[in-house]
Amino acid sequence: MALPHRIAPSILACDFAQLKNELKRAEDAGSDWHHVDVMDGHFVPNLSIGPPVVECVKRYSTIPLDVHLMIENPGDWAQRYADAGADVLSFHFEAAQDNFAQTLDQYHATGCKVGVAVNPPCGVEGMRDYLNRIDMVLIMSVHAGFGGQSFMPEVLDKVRQLRAWGYQGDIQMDGGITDQTVHACAEVGANVFVAGTYLYRADDFPTAINALRKAAQ
Ligand code: DX5
Ligand code: ZN
Repeated sequence: MALPHRIAPSILACDFAQLKNELKRAEDAGSDWHHVDVMDGHFVPNLSIGPPVVECVKRYSTIPLDVHLMIENPGDWAQRYADAGADVLSFHFEAAQDNFAQTLDQYHATGCKVGVAVNPPCGVEGMRDYLNRIDMVLIMSVHAGFGGQSFMPEVLDKVRQLRAWGYQGDIQMDGGITDQTVHACAEVGANVFVAGTYLYRADDFPTAINALRKAAQ
């Protein structure tokens, strides 16, 4: 099983006043996806962007949009973010525990690739019976809500567990990813790497993305 490595810079760390240029900077450096962090001020103690901004990102983007919803009642929003231009659309397991199967159906109905995310304290056992319907598992390696936090290596056990169960979909790592932390993630079977601070705040974006790809190998 050799899933391609994908690098997804998180626009949360970009200069939002220069959004169009920032997207181009990421694309010119060879990014695979744009990671778009949506926060509602309820599921996480921070607010970021909503559908109108995602629509603008879509308008200027030439690569897939990987939209990470950190919101309550995710089922209510699936179609809105799909319409705004998401290609990969992830919601948090913790936000949908009471109606997970139904929420999964709502996300599949949009036609997007469907991701399910978990914060560091949340295990992956609850999604085990549904893995054949999950295109990507997003393992948070910091507590969702803010960029610039330190990587938590203890979450790597969840990646090992998913691969040990035979999960063959994408596994995305998000939070504190740098050239120092990405290798440990790839080694246990993760293949999609989100990086905000490390890429957008680097002196040179192309140099940083190349360092990340190399370190992941
Ligand atoms: C955190 C977001 C991450 C964040 C990563 O809630 O989901 O995508 O932007 O930022 P860094 O790479 O700075 O940890
Ligand atoms: Zn994210």
